[in-house]
Amino acid sequence: MQILLVGSGAREHALAWKINKSPLLSKLYGWPLHPAIQEYAEPFDCDENSSYSTLAKKAKDNKIDLLICGPEQPLEMGLVDEFHHYGIKTFSPTQKAAQIETSKIFAKKIMLQAGIPTASFSEVRNLKEVEGISEKYLKGSSSVVIKADGLAGGKGVFICKNKKEVSDACVVLNKNFSQACGRIVVEEYLQGRECSYFAFVNGTKYESLGFAVDFKRLKEQDLGPNTGGMGGYTPVPWLPSGAEKTVCSRILEPLLATMEKIPGSSYCGFLYCGLMWTESGPKVIEFNARLGDPEAQLLAFADQRDWLEIILSTLEKGNKKSYNSSQNLLNTVGIVMASDCYPYGEKKISSVSPSIEKEVFIPTRDSIVFSASVSEKNKKFYPGRGRVFTVVGSDCLSHLQAKSIAKEKVMQLEKIWPGCQWRGDIASKIC
Ligand code: AMP
Ligand code: GLY
Repeated sequence: MQILLVGSGAREHALAWKINKSPLLSKLYGWPLHPAIQEYAEPFDCDENSSYSTLAKKAKDNKIDLLICGPEQPLEMGLVDEFHHYGIKTFSPTQKAAQIETSKIFAKKIMLQAGIPTASFSEVRNLKEVEGISEKYLKGSSSVVIKADGLAGGKGVFICKNKKEVSDACVVLNKNFSQACGRIVVEEYLQGRECSYFAFVNGTKYESLGFAVDFKRLKEQDLGPNTGGMGGYTPVPWLPSGAEKTVCSRILEPLLATMEKIPGSSYCGFLYCGLMWTESGPKVIEFNARLGDPEAQLLAFADQRDWLEIILSTLEKGNKKSYNSSQNLLNTVGIVMASDCYPYGEKKISSVSPSIEKEVFIPTRDSIVFSASVSEKNKKFYPGRGRVFTVVGSDCLSHLQAKSIAKEKVMQLEKIWPGCQWRGDIASKIC
């Protein structure tokens, strides 16, 4: 089995590490490849700026059996459809199916059709209408949520407490998302505790992966700007018993059955259900057509199973449905280390980039470091910008111990990389 993995972040580093462990793998290729992933995957010989059609043709010529795509942007651009054109199997969704993430309106309509619990919403086609509609939602609640329709890298969601905040959000939407301003979702503010659920999916077949919690704000105590995620933990001890069965029967199964009926939208790949656990159970905040980052890094290390074996058996014909994943997950905590300027790009990164010996990254039985933007010179790694490392610790007995394993490694790295940003309160409250 020759596999091509697309994407070069810490999530793809984790996927490469995990897939590489499988005895079912003959060769793993990465594209575009970053130095840390090279430990587990060979570079796929195709220019970084090539079109997806060229990439797919080269994959065909090089006898690639399966494509797995980590990030969402290539899905939106039709990467999977190009691979299908050349008859190559994929474990990632088509452009049409990926709309479950790339269009909030598409996702909301499917949820409505499938009877999936989610925030009540209004589709707004004109920015001028947002204020009037938001006012109605604010009458019954402390806040209203306004979302641009398309992919916005986490920057297209506004939680507003009053009229003034709504009008400020409209100004930002107009400035940054003028294209999306004809498609906006105004929705009910959900109260509860947030977590995510992940599964391996093919059509209506699925195998559960499990729950995780992600910390989205930059600073401790959930302060500071939103980020892609500064750390997290898995499994999730505060969920009620039977949570997994509830999510599968109320959310996952109706979603997959409904998508299956829409031509071209049958879902295949990792599925991410972003949930608010409310007093009346789980409600969907969003779906993503991929694994989360940093959730993938935690789940890959926590899950004792062979993911390639699960992917291949999910791709086979049959009727598999299975939701007992939590028992496979070790208590795991991940802490993200980001560059000093993250999440803003404009400030200058510390003038001297520190060099980190490769040995620091050798996984141990209970810890591993996954990397995103690093460069390599003379067997040393140099951290770049953004969320560079996810330091993961695991323990069979407690999250607390898992966290202290991760934290020890973080502090070791911080000595070499002063000025980096990380949160010390990841997984402090897990019950
Ligand atoms: P999204 O991009 O849709 O995941 O939204 C980003 C974040 O905004 C989520 O992780 C939640 O913390 C918050 N959020 C989005 N929608 C809602 C909602 N309806 N009620 C409460 N919080 C929300
Ligand atoms: N960590 C959130 C995401 O990957 O969307």
